[in-house]
Amino acid sequence: MKKIAVCVSGGGTNLQAILNRIADGTIGGVKVSLVVSNNKKAYALERAKQAGIPAVCVSRREYGSREEFEAALVGAIDQAEVDFVVLAGFLVIIPEEMIRRYRNRILNIHPSLIPSFCGTGYYGLKVHEAVLARGAKVTGATVHIVDEGTDTGPIILQKAVEVHQDDTPEVLQRRVMEEAEWKILPEAIHLFANDQLEIRDGRVYQTEEKAEKEAIC
Ligand code: GRF
Repeated sequence: MKKIAVCVSGGGTNLQAILNRIADGTIGGVKVSLVVSNNKKAYALERAKQAGIPAVCVSRREYGSREEFEAALVGAIDQAEVDFVVLAGFLVIIPEEMIRRYRNRILNIHPSLIPSFCGTGYYGLKVHEAVLARGAKVTGATVHIVDEGTDTGPIILQKAVEVHQDDTPEVLQRRVMEEAEWKILPEAIHLFANDQLEIRDGRVYQTEEKAEKEAIC
């Protein structure tokens, strides 16, 4: 059974999708051992409480310096002794020390089809505003490994979503969450927890076992 920490900053709908998939058995071999938020008002903390999952808030404003905040963040995750970390709408730049310590063991969900509409400044609603401003006809979501860059790590899964011409950023965000994020993040966690992913030359491959299963059904 692999243990994970899920890092959140907002509503926690991706966290909820993970919890729902674990509860219905779609995801096997994994347990959420800790929820970490940098925002004490995050509803994701309430979702963790309702699910009986230990949760901690590590807020930058409670620390005298960024170094102390980062040490507290990494310390909270280390203490949980997890196998890997999932960033689910986590609006904190991950400390390089944490990336080194959890090399290839931090997953992030980004609400676009990387390499489009990603990088510095592209988060939350801003992503969907940029998609609409560009007139893109297709967008989606990406689960990737976190490295030292911003949204630059190896891509694990992606799922495309149609853009409708009367979309507002809020409507598009919701569709991307419902049709993509809430599906591929639990799936990526299942693959990762069940050792069905390999990283070679900066790219992620699903092992034969997973590919064969798809071929059969
Ligand atoms: C959403 O904008 C989502 O697209 C992105 O993070 C934000 C918060 O998601 N991944 P959540 O409801 O807190 O999971």
